[in-house]
Amino acid sequence: MSEKLFIFDTTLRDGEQVPGCQLNTIEKIEVARALEELGVDILEAGFPISSPGDFNSVREISKAVSNPTICALTRAVQKDIDVAADALALAKHKRIHTGIGVSHSHIYDKLKSTPEEIIERAVAAVKHAKKYVEDVEFYAEDAGRADNEYLARVIEAVIKAGATVVNIPDTTGYCLPQEYGRKIKYLMENVGNIHKAIISTHCHNDLGMATANTLEAVINGARQAEVTINGIGERAGNTSLEEVVMALRCHKHLNVDTSINSKLLTSTSRMVASMMNMPVQANKAIVGRNAFAHSSGIHQDGVLKSRESYEIINPVDVGLDESVIALTARSGRAALNHRLELLGFKLEQKELDEVYAKFLELADKKKDVRDDDLLYLVGAATGEK
Ligand code: KIV
Ligand code: ZN
Repeated sequence: MSEKLFIFDTTLRDGEQVPGCQLNTIEKIEVARALEELGVDILEAGFPISSPGDFNSVREISKAVSNPTICALTRAVQKDIDVAADALALAKHKRIHTGIGVSHSHIYDKLKSTPEEIIERAVAAVKHAKKYVEDVEFYAEDAGRADNEYLARVIEAVIKAGATVVNIPDTTGYCLPQEYGRKIKYLMENVGNIHKAIISTHCHNDLGMATANTLEAVINGARQAEVTINGIGERAGNTSLEEVVMALRCHKHLNVDTSINSKLLTSTSRMVASMMNMPVQANKAIVGRNAFAHSSGIHQDGVLKSRESYEIINPVDVGLDESVIALTARSGRAALNHRLELLGFKLEQKELDEVYAKFLELADKKKDVRDDDLLYLVGAATGEK
């Protein structure tokens, strides 16, 4: 039996902060319902103090969605926490996510404070949030660049104050996987009361390491991952939900799994991309248009003989019907014949050679060859109209 990794989805908070991605309340409810269907455990619905619209969205999502815990973000400020509690009032399961910066630059430059004062403010925020909800998550902003000894003191203090989850964000996407993994290990080994809380990982993708960092944190003991659909989020984005889920499914030896229904990954990705006006790059892992497309002849021949020769995931597991064998000038006879058979043609070797020669001429001129083109080529070669 594998251990559970809780999936905390922040598409509607960290993801939605991206310029151009804003959704209205009705659209947010639609996405929230899709996330519930997908099986996320915690759904961060917004930052209620930030605007009346965000407050309203958190309130409406709290009414519309009942399986996941609904979470609202706050700064370590009483007023933020009061407003978040109000927005969450109707949620069946609720969590307040409060926190403060803990790196040198956040403590001295941004907050103009001192390490001791930050601990006091962190503890006060958690205690205040505890007056409203049992489930309080604390985020140690910019933990990725924070001193580990100091971070451990902050975490120990907020757990003592009642935090049930401690979030260790790599806010600036700075860490390398081993470094971030060591940070989690350090906390596991040096925070006396760490067994009383769940460690959460929250990574940004500025160096393209978000998924690797998240997995390294899981390997070292984190049991909640904060992620977004398609990895959308501030700057280069957040850790992508689909990558973490499928990496764990592919590497069962890690013995950690999520409750996500992976068959809904593609449809959820497409819905979020279209609603948030954020197209997914074609070569994006798991959900990109080409993630299961094979175009070179060698790969196509391999996949047609045995899917596993070039695929580590069955496309059906992420909600696709099948792999795509793209017909381009790099395709071989095997791919062409496969497509022709799907179109209902069974050609003799000589006919296939003839169609293949014409196909290559056409494919050198066109980016990809479509079924209509094939029907024309077969007709010309076999004399059929
Ligand atoms: O990246 C970050 O540090 C955050 C926190 C507000 C959780 O998004
Ligand atoms: Zn973030």
